[in-house]
Amino acid sequence: MLILGIESSCDETAASVVKDCREIRSSVISTQIEEHRKYGGVVPEIASRRHCENILGVVRKALDDADVKLDDLDAVAVTYAPGLIGALLVGVNFAKGLAMASGKPLVPVHHIAGHIATNYLTYPELEPPYLCLVASGGHSHIIEVLSYTKFRVVGRTRDDAAGECFDKCARAMGFSYPGGVQIDNASKLGDPSEFKLPHPKVAGNEFDFSFSGLKTNVINLIHNSQQKNIQLNYNNLSASIQKTIAEILTKKTIKAAESLGYKKIALAGGVSANTGVRATLSEACRKHGFKFYMPEKSLCGDNGAMIACQGSYNFLAGITADESLNAVATLSMEDI
Ligand code: KG4
Ligand code: ZN
Repeated sequence: MLILGIESSCDETAASVVKDCREIRSSVISTQIEEHRKYGGVVPEIASRRHCENILGVVRKALDDADVKLDDLDAVAVTYAPGLIGALLVGVNFAKGLAMASGKPLVPVHHIAGHIATNYLTYPELEPPYLCLVASGGHSHIIEVLSYTKFRVVGRTRDDAAGECFDKCARAMGFSYPGGVQIDNASKLGDPSEFKLPHPKVAGNEFDFSFSGLKTNVINLIHNSQQKNIQLNYNNLSASIQKTIAEILTKKTIKAAESLGYKKIALAGGVSANTGVRATLSEACRKHGFKFYMPEKSLCGDNGAMIACQGSYNFLAGITADESLNAVATLSMEDI
């Protein structure tokens, strides 16, 4: 079975051909990061235009690299939600056109389900059910992966996502967009013990996250020091931010696994590339006797292979879309 996956939900135009659910035959990613960096974040209008310019070349290269013709495909999978609406529309419409021209089924994929699927591409033996922490620029979720296509969200952020918190703290320190990776790099040179940052108290669902308090605390710390003309050690501050975010994510995930009875825990989303998050969650899982899974670094950010992989499982489960498929900016995983 050969599935083409197309991703255009944010600032990466990506396409990939995956064979038999888990074998990556090609993966092409055209990133717009450099262009958005000038503005300190993704500018939706620019993102849509670049997707429009790049998508044909990216898809053609993915097919060529895999040595596959449109006719060889079993289906065309595409991210339809969630994300920037104008960006998603480019991928959805392109995929519809391809499906129509080739006579192949169109398979809709939820972006977060795609991130979770990066673990199938990394671990051939991994099968649901398991618990997955998904932390990206737009989401921080603890998700029960009940089957390849059924999910239950047991915890979510009440405000900022973990990646957003990384990026906003980084911006306050003057690091360029996207700041998560810069904090990761600076942390390697820093001592996390200089700054004591707060862990949030979240009333209600004990598995929900909140990152806006941490972000505000860091921004205030930086502004106060600037007013007093004191230069903080940004390596140490980065190390503290990273340690705190990693601890918050880990604590809630372990608690959820214990309370729901899961022994297998996976990590996914852009923030899964973070050295501190990987190490802290991995160590906590080891201590608790849980099996831990995390995507290969190259699969942590947005890519087409994750959409092709999840698209394969959707296709096998009979999940296809007709010509009325639309892009959706916000959509819970439980509604797919
Ligand atoms: O999954 P993703 O590529 O896009 C969304 O679906 O949102 O995630 C992007 C997020 C950004 O906030 C970025 O700063 C963060 O992932 N990120 C990292 C690292 N690499 C990417 N955050 C911390 N450390 C990293 N190494
Ligand atoms: Zn993503």
